[in-house]
Amino acid sequence: MRVAADAAKLRGRGRDIVDFGPGEPDFPTPDNVKRAAVRAIENNFTRYTPAGGTMELREAICERHAADFGTSYTSSECVVSAGGKHALFNLMQVLLDPGDEVTIPVPGWSTYQDIVSYCGGTPVFAGANEESGFAITASLIENHLTDRTRAVLINSPCNPTGDVIGPEEFGRICRLTAKRGIWLVTDECYSHLLYDGLPFSVASVPGARSTVIVAGSLSKAYAMTGWRIGYALAPPLVAAAVAKLQSQSTSNPNSIAQKAAVEALRGSQDSRAEMRTEYLRRRDFTVQRLRAIAGIRCPEPKGAFYVYPNIRQILDRGGPMDPAEFAGQLLDQAGVAVVPGEAFGTTDHVRITFAVSMRDLERGLDRLDKFVAGLKG
Ligand SMILES: Cc1ncc(COP(=O)(O)O)c(C=O)c1O
Repeated sequence: MRVAADAAKLRGRGRDIVDFGPGEPDFPTPDNVKRAAVRAIENNFTRYTPAGGTMELREAICERHAADFGTSYTSSECVVSAGGKHALFNLMQVLLDPGDEVTIPVPGWSTYQDIVSYCGGTPVFAGANEESGFAITASLIENHLTDRTRAVLINSPCNPTGDVIGPEEFGRICRLTAKRGIWLVTDECYSHLLYDGLPFSVASVPGARSTVIVAGSLSKAYAMTGWRIGYALAPPLVAAAVAKLQSQSTSNPNSIAQKAAVEALRGSQDSRAEMRTEYLRRRDFTVQRLRAIAGIRCPEPKGAFYVYPNIRQILDRGGPMDPAEFAGQLLDQAGVAVVPGEAFGTTDHVRITFAVSMRDLERGLDRLDKFVAGLKG
């Protein structure tokens, strides 16, 4: 968000900025979804709804999850919030007591630690190994559990690394958390953006539903970041607690956005597939261009829409000292915004999103290439 603000400031002063910072689709929301929202307004669907979301939307979420992943959630296990971030925030509020620990793999989305801390918990970081592609494994998690661990918070496909946990390993993580009697919270924000293999939810593992909690979102899959619709799938007591909490904070998610979300989930899924195909083309282009720049190591992400290249060799040349300084100079001198790895818990990387147009990818990567070539060393 800060990178986006800095980029916007420079743009406001007339600079041409290529923004690889934000994590949001550049596609418009699909037309059928927009039309459903217009209909909702015209039909005066503009009042309060139940705090946990309309029955229609909760059923649509359960149906889509069942169709995509083979689960069998019912509406009493579903609660709708104002985006996936809000769903996670509510979940941590109802799950954590002061001092409870939450194990969070690193690199990981910076929001997790702030939410956990805000809710009185203690984030415990499980540093994944770069040589293994930052793979998140059961043994990595197990090494970071203590008597105070209340939950493990996992994100696959991962923002920022693009790592995807395979069904077998996810099953092992699920058995581990169940055995320890702790929650496995799985952030499925990017679960439809896979470039290999079939989408998988750990909630489909037999018996998992009593200890697994899904936090989902329509933001990325349906290009709906501004509509603010996310959800939790959880045992009924947890879902009810989230709805109760929500009833005294935001009341209910926006009524019009809920109607739009029903159409997104029940209508044609073609746009979701089309966006994925376009992201794949952009991913391949981005990885190939970055690999051609001396000093950059760029693994191929298996999901989501980010690359997380290692720039250590460039930093060691004696120019910018760390990714934050690198990102600052790149923005000032070349007009390209990237997110420094410090935001995700590592010191050798930057995150670049390829959820931007092909034209911007070409322009931005040309500028990055020239900027790196011009650094001393
Ligand atoms: C890993 C991850 N989870 C959840 C979200 C939440 O998205 P939203 O609140 O728009 O649903 C994001 C957004 O960037 C994300 O990167």
